[in-house]
Amino acid sequence: MYTDPKMLESIKKVEAAREANIRLDPRRMTAEEKDVLLRTFHPDYRENQFAVLQFGPNKGEKVPTELAALLQGSSRLLGKTVDLAHPDYDTDVLIIGAGGAGTSAAIEADNNGARVMIVTKLRMGDANTMMAEGGIQAADKPNDSPAQHFLDAYGGGHFAAQKDLLYKLVTEAPEAIQWLSNLGVEFDKAPDGTMITTHGGGTSRKRMHAAKDYSGAEIMRTLRDEVLNRQIPVVDFTAAIELIKDENGHCAGAVLMNMETKELLVARAKTVILATGGAGRLHYQGFPTSNHYGATADGLILGYRAGAKLLYADTLQYHPTGAAFPAQIYGALVTEKVRSVGAMLINAEGEAFMNPLETRDVSAASIIRECSERGKGVKTPLGDAVWLDTPMIELKHGEGTIEKRIPAMMRMFGKHGIDIRKEPILVYPTLHYQNGGLHITPDGQTDVENLFAAGEVVGGIHGRNRLMGNSLLDIIVFGRNAGKQASEKAKSVTVGALTLGHVDAFEAERKAAGCEAETISPRLLPNYARRAEEERR
Ligand code: FUM
Repeated sequence: MYTDPKMLESIKKVEAAREANIRLDPRRMTAEEKDVLLRTFHPDYRENQFAVLQFGPNKGEKVPTELAALLQGSSRLLGKTVDLAHPDYDTDVLIIGAGGAGTSAAIEADNNGARVMIVTKLRMGDANTMMAEGGIQAADKPNDSPAQHFLDAYGGGHFAAQKDLLYKLVTEAPEAIQWLSNLGVEFDKAPDGTMITTHGGGTSRKRMHAAKDYSGAEIMRTLRDEVLNRQIPVVDFTAAIELIKDENGHCAGAVLMNMETKELLVARAKTVILATGGAGRLHYQGFPTSNHYGATADGLILGYRAGAKLLYADTLQYHPTGAAFPAQIYGALVTEKVRSVGAMLINAEGEAFMNPLETRDVSAASIIRECSERGKGVKTPLGDAVWLDTPMIELKHGEGTIEKRIPAMMRMFGKHGIDIRKEPILVYPTLHYQNGGLHITPDGQTDVENLFAAGEVVGGIHGRNRLMGNSLLDIIVFGRNAGKQASEKAKSVTVGALTLGHVDAFEAERKAAGCEAETISPRLLPNYARRAEEERR
């Protein structure tokens, strides 16, 4: 509920300008304008927030300071003994992570006849997939094509995407939608049964398929059911804390840790798939996040220590519209769909300051500029924010549209006394997605033999910025792909004697680089207690 007199005064300005704003179609920025805007206001360009890696596969490259500390941190195994000779688990394909990518991989590996095992530090479905709202892109309408999809995503990603990966993403998208639909995902459909598709930021065609505004939850529900129905083993509340190699230097399993008892376990596998997701809970630059509780970059740490290269680890996605008020939902995702169905971004003076469907990096930087340089943000207890004028939606499309198209948003704000059909909401960028991650080939293989990766832990598919709806797509396309490739590869793998020599070698490299490690990694869970303590001091 809004009670602050300044907020109420600003709402009056938003209401007074609403009719005129609705008729506006703010022009898109030129490439030059975007370039200047991003360099000046996007958090990726704040040089003092990055550190240069001193050793390891990406030596000399910059990554966020918090990530550098973890990548160059000490292993949780230092000083511990691990009985590699007597594995607790033995499987063909070990999948680390049980979100959309991990479960898709498991289903395809199972289809290919492999013995599969999933291990997850929380529970199946505790993942960013579950949190995804707006939808999944696929060019499957007559006025669209994968080529068009490619061009949108390539431009939106600043022409930095790995072309072979992006090609795979867009060409296999229509089949991914069919696969999900056949498994039971209830996509929004018109009365004639055709799928409803909408725009997202940076799309030239309406190709966003959605299940209202809980698309990820619907997809995760379906994938989880499929894994359970197939009785694929899932070891939950158990984290992978180090990869294991064999005497040939090939990935051959992982050391696991029971999250409750801290007991160490050994899983031997012919191939391993990292599907550990993102890093929002590292709260880079102090940003809030839309990510789930376990998003702590674990896969990047495990892969890096084993010798896998990272790509674009210096680029993050700040979703332009994180909830900024009330404090209880600070940073929670306000789906881009809210803008794609008609809400505009408005400053404290009631001005529509940008086209609502610019790409995410440009939108986030515009909001930050509005609140900083231009001083036209709305004051909230946690900082400045701008309005997202949701009542516009029903003025444009009629009463009932909000409840029908974005019911989760209506519920989230409704719980706090804000009726988004009648009142605008306050938003500010929130840490949403890691654009960078492990380098893979189109068959999902990292730089370490027999180590595959899929989902948000991968870098390079989207370049240096991702369009809405291409992440739910990539977890399906590349999750399935990794499952097929890793299970196929497993058929010809003979695992040699297991070793953790690479962990010792990494430690030696760190010492040789003169790098003092104060951090133990992977982090596994966010350290809010420590943060609160630091803030108190
Ligand atoms: O805005 C959203 O619904 C987020 C979608 C995405 O990150 O793809």
